[in-house]
Amino acid sequence: MKKILLTILSLCLSQVMWAQDYTKDVEKLLKKMTLEEKVGQMTQFTSSSDVTGPTLRGNVEKDVKAGHVGSLFNAVSADYTRKLQKMAVEETRLGIPLLFGYDVIHGFKTIFPIPLGEASSFDLELMQDAARVAAEEASAAGIHWTFAPMVDVSRDPRWGRVMEGAGEDTYYNSEVAKARVKGFQGDDLAATNTVLACAKHFLAYGAPQGGRDYHTVDMSLQTLHDVYLPPFKACVDAGVETFMTSFNEINGTPSTANPYLFKDILRDQWDFEGVVVTDYTAINELIPHGIAGDLPTAGQLALNAGIDMDMEGDVFLSTLVQSVKDGKVSEKDIDHAVRRILLVKFKLGLFDDPYRYCDAEREKSVTLSQDFKNRARKAAQRSIVLLKNENQILPLTLNNTKKIALIGPLAKSKKDVLGGWKAKGSPKQAKSLFEGMKAATKDKAELLYAKGCKMSGADTTGFAEALEVAQQSDVVVLAIGEPRTISGEAKSRSDINIPGVQTELLAHLKQAGKPIVVVLMNGRPLTLEREDELADALLETWHLGTMAGPAIADVIFGKYNPSGKLPMSFPRNVGQIPIFYNAKNTGRPFDPEKPSGYKSNYLDVPNTPLYAFGYGLSYTEFAYGDIKLSAETMEDQPITASIEVTNTGDYDGEEVVQLYIQDLIGKSTRPLKEMKGFEKIFLKKGETKTVTFTIAKEALTYHRWDMSEGVEAGDFNVYIGTSSDNVKQASFKLTKDFEASKQYNPIKSK
Ligand code: GLC
Repeated sequence: MKKILLTILSLCLSQVMWAQDYTKDVEKLLKKMTLEEKVGQMTQFTSSSDVTGPTLRGNVEKDVKAGHVGSLFNAVSADYTRKLQKMAVEETRLGIPLLFGYDVIHGFKTIFPIPLGEASSFDLELMQDAARVAAEEASAAGIHWTFAPMVDVSRDPRWGRVMEGAGEDTYYNSEVAKARVKGFQGDDLAATNTVLACAKHFLAYGAPQGGRDYHTVDMSLQTLHDVYLPPFKACVDAGVETFMTSFNEINGTPSTANPYLFKDILRDQWDFEGVVVTDYTAINELIPHGIAGDLPTAGQLALNAGIDMDMEGDVFLSTLVQSVKDGKVSEKDIDHAVRRILLVKFKLGLFDDPYRYCDAEREKSVTLSQDFKNRARKAAQRSIVLLKNENQILPLTLNNTKKIALIGPLAKSKKDVLGGWKAKGSPKQAKSLFEGMKAATKDKAELLYAKGCKMSGADTTGFAEALEVAQQSDVVVLAIGEPRTISGEAKSRSDINIPGVQTELLAHLKQAGKPIVVVLMNGRPLTLEREDELADALLETWHLGTMAGPAIADVIFGKYNPSGKLPMSFPRNVGQIPIFYNAKNTGRPFDPEKPSGYKSNYLDVPNTPLYAFGYGLSYTEFAYGDIKLSAETMEDQPITASIEVTNTGDYDGEEVVQLYIQDLIGKSTRPLKEMKGFEKIFLKKGETKTVTFTIAKEALTYHRWDMSEGVEAGDFNVYIGTSSDNVKQASFKLTKDFEASKQYNPIKSK
């Protein structure tokens, strides 16, 4: 009874805390602080238990006791964070608690699919739930703050960090961003199972020249506002509490020193009140960027740009006090930063109980629970994209498949399935494809195995044994792709073929004359023309996390009918990059039906990708009716677009019905189509459902040459279908111009 009463009491207390206004508390504490203590709060160091960047401060405990640290990251476990928190609370003058941060990108110990994989599910509730589980586990290990979601739109698969985001589309990235923020933060930050989320990396980090990480970003303000900004605004609308700067420059100004981003847009236009932390040593990097000659200048530029906390750089700590004395920065600006940092600590309830997240009992009880593993398996199933299924060889049925040859360097991998940014995920807990298929086949079919080759190098000596195993089987399942170590941060590739001789192994196995199901495991879109040609069936499974093996087996044996869709285009070759569905028409559009010279095309490859944004097959078929519009014209009121979708195949299944809009004529050129909605529906065999989308004029606006935001009267096409390149069409007319209510303000902060 007592426990129940205590729970009810703590729930009520947390509700009160969440709604509370902490202004007085913050001001009262701020008044007591010395300038050195304020600058200490603006300092974040990594503990040495995990390394996620180029340098290491070393003995952070000394810094904590000296009051030089406001936040630590990469320090995890209830016990270790309790030990460090005690130093801050009991050994410093004011006892201000620490914030503990960590990169909980797609799970903490129960690892979910990499975010790009999860984004293939087009299931927002599922992605919110994945973030919820991550927050439950991380908060139980003493973590208050995750450096996620990464919401960088990217159109370039050479960039290794595409694995962390939701692909090439702005609208879809915005929807996913909201889901992930809500999953991490929940609806009560004072609850001990929620964590601060962090919108990163502000801004346009996903558009480096050549897809080379940290490289220069140079683009028009129109593209910056129409393509890269909206997912961050979506995070603010979802209540995100923190932002992280990006390493890159934009048009000559590194983000970490850019007041246009962090004052004009984030604070003035969006009224964001949260904390801005730099990326790892990003202030120090203003020197190699060439806009600061020394650390004091770098620190001044960052503070004057609106940055609140210095991750690992030790620039604020070592230079700001002197910069105030030299009159280069104002203590008022430092106070603004410290207020925001203290406020999130109050919101988390850390001043009421600094040890409320350090609960070793809870850590033991929630981590890697069966419920979390079940939710991870469900997310993994739904992240799988069926790219090819010649003659419907999938799903395999065990009554006529008696011998299965499982081949390939990823077939038994328990490490690579965890993907990049695996936090504290352990291969020991992960289930390989081999384990998943073994459990699925049991005594109903014999599972043969051969590795065939490694994931890198040119050694083909394992091919012979693999061919023998294939020849003894009824069907081959070949697991090939990328190790987890070649996608993620600082993992750009100029060649995005499957590495090593894995594709040669696939070609070699064709001699067995058996159907070949290729299971891809990778952290980015790859160039797969040969694999598409050689494979009978092709499953894109990404790096699916702890429950990868069982989830892939569920799909192979038909326990789950694949429903994933690609959140990024797959180029035919690297020369096509950047290739994305919402491109412009150009003045010389190439028409493959009526090819002619002097058009915008290549001599050696079509303009289309191998697989388009939104593409993904099912074991069943879906038929689309015609689009019905509620009106042929739109003035002020929204119109609706409806369509009937029927499951005409042999399996129950899910379909992602996608809505795209084209503005045919604008003051500026407009993309051929842009996603403006989607709905994932379940249809039993033979069932028909009507899907209805609402189209409002506010969703049609864009930034013109003069940076005004609006949309002109004129003709619009509506597209609805199963993929960006497979749609039905209808049209409507917008009868009058519309100007967005909040217009772009010229760059104010210098
Ligand atoms: C890294 C990443 C950033 C991460 C941070 C802390 O350099 O760019 O995404 O959150 O450092 O590990």
